[in-house]
Amino acid sequence: MSKHEANLVVVANRLPVKLVPLEERENDQSDSGESGGMKWVTSPGGLVAALTPAMVDYDGAAWLGWTGETGGETLEPFSHDGLLLVPVKLSEQERELHYEGMSNGTIWPLYHDKVEPSEYHRTWFDGYRRVNQRFATQAAEVAAEGATIWVQDYQLQLVPGMLRDLRPDLKIGFFLHIPFPAPELFFQLPWRAEMTQGLLGSDLIGMQNPDDATNFERLAVRLDEATNQGPGILSVHSDDDTTVRSIQVKAFPIGIDTERYAEAAESKEIQYLARDLRAQLGQPEVVMLGVDRLDYTKGIDVRLRAFGELLAEERIDPAQVTMIQVAEPSRDRVEAYISLRERVEQMVGEINGNYGRVGFPVVHYIHQTQSFEQIMAMYRVADVMLVTPFRDGMNLVAKEYVASRFDETGTLVLSEFAGAAHQLTDALLVNPYDIDGLKNAIVQAVEMDSDQSQTRMKGLRANVEHNDAAAWARSFLSQLAKD
Ligand code: G6P
Repeated sequence: MSKHEANLVVVANRLPVKLVPLEERENDQSDSGESGGMKWVTSPGGLVAALTPAMVDYDGAAWLGWTGETGGETLEPFSHDGLLLVPVKLSEQERELHYEGMSNGTIWPLYHDKVEPSEYHRTWFDGYRRVNQRFATQAAEVAAEGATIWVQDYQLQLVPGMLRDLRPDLKIGFFLHIPFPAPELFFQLPWRAEMTQGLLGSDLIGMQNPDDATNFERLAVRLDEATNQGPGILSVHSDDDTTVRSIQVKAFPIGIDTERYAEAAESKEIQYLARDLRAQLGQPEVVMLGVDRLDYTKGIDVRLRAFGELLAEERIDPAQVTMIQVAEPSRDRVEAYISLRERVEQMVGEINGNYGRVGFPVVHYIHQTQSFEQIMAMYRVADVMLVTPFRDGMNLVAKEYVASRFDETGTLVLSEFAGAAHQLTDALLVNPYDIDGLKNAIVQAVEMDSDQSQTRMKGLRANVEHNDAAAWARSFLSQLAKD
């Protein structure tokens, strides 16, 4: 496949593969193409799992994205697992302006209700525009006549509008994986009109839940960029006012590859790893678990604070309860992430200093990327799973935990500010801003009798089984095809 031949083009900030040294490839699912002592391997992310089953339905699908590296030689498109992968090149300066700056220093905090302040810099936006234009131009080059383009997430919100200008023949869908804020907050953005116009270049805009979709509809109307034609339908006029185009805005809550988690959880290997892990932890009565990217939206600090207070008040006995907190390194050149790391590590140190014993820390803190198998073993040993973000588009970790509990044991404590709370209503729902409420929910989870936790887990599992990743991708694409 080469120019103008792909019938479906996924456009995402990252490619579904990464370059690793040749010797690291053994454990990966697939690989293709060597590049100077390095090898492309499939990355483990949720988006890859969600999109791959739907992409194989198309005869000729491409995925366009950044490799995560900067500089170096220009990489040509290459085939990987039946997909055409089209690398987009970013310079070091573009990484700073587009990725670290505008995407993760402006949009990420703004869309997460400003849990941390967002910064507005014109140079960042210029870089964002330039990089979005490059993605749009490259996508226009690989798309066949009338092809479907599916743009992903907040790093690329200008791409739908740019693509429509370049290729009006395309069907353009956009899905936002993170929350969409209330218009009152979005209004702060100095480039609010341009960003909204960019999104309105789509035929279909997908959001994680109905509140996000309503926020976008209200925003587009208040900015006078579109007219509301009824719930979930906006219309825009062409510049010369001769044509009107409709845009659908709708919720498509994303799921996980449920079967993969369920099957792995029941495998001998994971059950062995889980038994081994529990033994290493000293056979505690209760294991509590948090698995997050080290991100200030995730509420890792509030969770540690609640745990520390419960230990201080002797409502939790450190001889019986152990916590594991995986905090995967993320965006570690962005200031807010650097200071979060210091805060979290100080809290962990304090808790272990006050309540741990030699060889038995109360919090096992891991600031490293863990393998799928290691995470699965943790899901299996966790009696209580803590998912306490201040704001989260969906939170797939909550769903992965549920999918791994084939024996219907375990309790999920879930923030009401995670998109997943709209679906996982059988969890113990908490407000992470209410520390006392969170502490009570943790104690309730630790003490919950097995009948009650089983009833809740059954309800959770029914939801996660029915709304999996493949169903999500297919329902978005079939809605887009209908328009
Ligand atoms: C969130 C975003 C994704 C992003 C991921 C990892 O889930 O919605 O678009 O890829 O975080 O963040 P990173 O900055 O490493 O791509």
